[in-house]
Amino acid sequence: MITEVKTPSRSYEVISKSGALCSLIPTLDKVARGSRIAIITDDKVDSIYKGRIESILGDAGYRFVKFVIKNGEASKNPETLFAFLEFMASEGITRSDCVLAFGGGVVGDLGGFAASVYQRGIKLIQVPTTLLAMVDSSVGGKTAVDLKAGKNLAGSFWQPFGVICDTDFTKTLPKDVFRDGCAEVIKYGVILDATLFERLKSGIDGCLEYAVTRSIALKRDVVEADEKDTGARAILNFGHTFGHAIEKLSRFEVSHGSAVAKGMLIASSAAGQLGISDLTDQIRGILLSYGFDLSCPYGASEVAIAAMSDKKRSGEAINLILPEKIGKCVQYPIKASELCSLLEACL
Ligand SMILES: NC(=O)c1ccc[n+]([C@@H]2O[C@H](COP(=O)([O-])OP(=O)(O)OC[C@H]3O[C@@H](n4cnc5c(N)ncnc54)[C@H](O)[C@@H]3O)[C@@H](O)[C@H]2O)c1
Repeated sequence: MITEVKTPSRSYEVISKSGALCSLIPTLDKVARGSRIAIITDDKVDSIYKGRIESILGDAGYRFVKFVIKNGEASKNPETLFAFLEFMASEGITRSDCVLAFGGGVVGDLGGFAASVYQRGIKLIQVPTTLLAMVDSSVGGKTAVDLKAGKNLAGSFWQPFGVICDTDFTKTLPKDVFRDGCAEVIKYGVILDATLFERLKSGIDGCLEYAVTRSIALKRDVVEADEKDTGARAILNFGHTFGHAIEKLSRFEVSHGSAVAKGMLIASSAAGQLGISDLTDQIRGILLSYGFDLSCPYGASEVAIAAMSDKKRSGEAINLILPEKIGKCVQYPIKASELCSLLEACL
């Protein structure tokens, strides 16, 4: 299945299906024929899929170099970014060459950022290996590293030249990492697509390719309308404002997907309190059926303060994304002073 993404900065194809990896060489031939390929991956993905990408590239006559980072969010920092840039420079990677990010969102964000700044920008192919990276981080062009002061504080917009989402990679994911990605897929259903939401109610296993491809198309629509995140793209933050707050309060002990699940429930409950909708039971039901722990160990004021420190806050107000009905959401700006009392009624 091919989803075409057309943004002002670049148009590209996202190929998503079981076995999509066989489209890697045709994609490279189209956008980077003759380039040397700078693979970035992490040690876990590298050890599970040892040599897989390398043999595909080698058999097709592509020359490549490989840079392996330690797996996990702790690697998504300026030091790893610059180590990869130095590596590419020492290997003689040129402006006509191509970065290939093979891994989850951490590898994708680092590889994307590096491609956007190396010699002022080189080609980038994303080969995501987690569900989250397939449906979210590999599409849309946002790249970032974390700074000491917070997550994703330095980054760029750099659209890939092609994305290969082979759903077979999800077979080796740990259960909790797979579930984290499910939170994002459920998010797309709640905010944009009632049919997707309905199908997800009976579990994702029987509709994985559909769920991945549909999520990518929904993200594509949002990104095409607002590539640089100045308005409409904010709806993708459903569950994330409170989710990021919980992640931060837990010192990142609570995983991103679990925190987003808790955040989606809080946002649904807030929509109920504000008389916007009555979806809390439905949203709680689907999240519980995927095995999410929906408890929130923090009080209203802690969550409100942490949410107000989100980088997406504008002035004294924060823009909540609230579900109006399944498949439709609204943006609801709220003042810091009102957020705490709203949360007291929700938690
Ligand atoms: N740029 C964006 O638009 C965007 C959007 C959402 C999230 N993100 C970023 O994505 C990151 C999270 O991504 P993630 O959840 O993929 O985390 P991740 O990249 O850390 O991967 C999670 C774990 O799964 C392992 N793994 C990856 N693929 C595997 C496979 N096929 N089989 C077995 N293990 C595998 C990794 O080694 C890692 O240990 C965060 O840094 C977040 O900020 C970016």
